[in-house]
Amino acid sequence: MNTKIIKIDEENIDEELIKQAGQIIKDGGLVAFPTETVYGLGGDALSSDSSKKIYAAKGRPSDNPLIVHIADIKDMDAIVLKVTENAKKLADRFWPGPLTMILKKSDRVPFETTGGLDSVAIRMPVHKTAAAFIKAAGGYIAAPSANISGKPSPTSAKYVIQDMDGRIDMIIDGGDSGIGLESTIVDLTGEIPVLLRPGYITLEQLKEVLGQVDVDKTILDGDCKERPKAPGMKYRHYAPKGDLTIVDGKAKEVIERINELAREAEGKDKKVCVIATDENADRYDAGIIKSIGSRNDEDIIAHRLYTILRECDDENIDIIYSESFDSAGIGQAIMNRLLKAAGHHVIHI
Ligand code: TXA
Ligand code: MG
Repeated sequence: MNTKIIKIDEENIDEELIKQAGQIIKDGGLVAFPTETVYGLGGDALSSDSSKKIYAAKGRPSDNPLIVHIADIKDMDAIVLKVTENAKKLADRFWPGPLTMILKKSDRVPFETTGGLDSVAIRMPVHKTAAAFIKAAGGYIAAPSANISGKPSPTSAKYVIQDMDGRIDMIIDGGDSGIGLESTIVDLTGEIPVLLRPGYITLEQLKEVLGQVDVDKTILDGDCKERPKAPGMKYRHYAPKGDLTIVDGKAKEVIERINELAREAEGKDKKVCVIATDENADRYDAGIIKSIGSRNDEDIIAHRLYTILRECDDENIDIIYSESFDSAGIGQAIMNRLLKAAGHHVIHI
């Protein structure tokens, strides 16, 4: 398949190109598009055939449900059984934005889109190109992240092209994703809301609006025997090709241990990368040092994480050692993704 690659500037949207992209969806095709979190791989959410095509293009197991993206809050009514009070409150505060809500689905949404579940995940992105594209496509875009299943989610068109060129009809290049980690997911189908995937909208922010919010135990705990409630969270996800280990402890000891481990691996002819923070970067003396940003700026760490993991793949890194991060606020999302990328391999010192 020949994949058409177009560029759209969020601040000066080319309506003609957006119309073309929308038409591809209406004709049953697939289009990758930018959002504020990561790039999405879009198809018509109300068509079972389009959803099947998405699974095929990503190489994704079909029990892993897709998020339905909308551009108008009113469009939620048609795809859920009931817009609950909590859903209204959250939409009011955080939409459009990086928050996904799970509600009971209506008959309009095919089971192919929801991976066989009777609930549906819904998000209204704030990215202007995403919103214009969703409208042009008829209002309902099913979109997982636009990576091949198992790889880190793409935060720039370069990585969408790497994974999807030849597999889908069009890629909209909208530059770098601002946030860089996938949306926060909250399940509103039960009595008490449950955080299924941490993201830029933090647990603390959700509690401000909802009061009590439970947290899926599997988010930060690798030993937890329960199954994650978001089916996609059970897969080893977000993973680079190289072997990633997190080293956690006091800065001085972490640096010493990583230096030791990196030297040892290099001695065995392995290509090594160290994911460091700005504060410590110049204290490492082995491997390729990549600074992810300052410990004081979690937005930058979130924004850079997947790019660094992808760079490690580009550079054929065999072994990666990373510092650990605080797990409060946005740190909960950063550590959730980092732990998954590491297969929960952590050295505590
Ligand atoms: O930021 C994002 O959310 C990006 C952009 C493109 O919007 N999308 C994204 O989609 O990350 P994906 O498919 O990579 O992740 C969706 C997650 C999966 O873990 C899936 O299992 C979960 O949402 N999910 C979807 N529908 C669900 C449902 N009805 N119940 C429980 N989990 C659900
Ligand atoms: Mg994904």
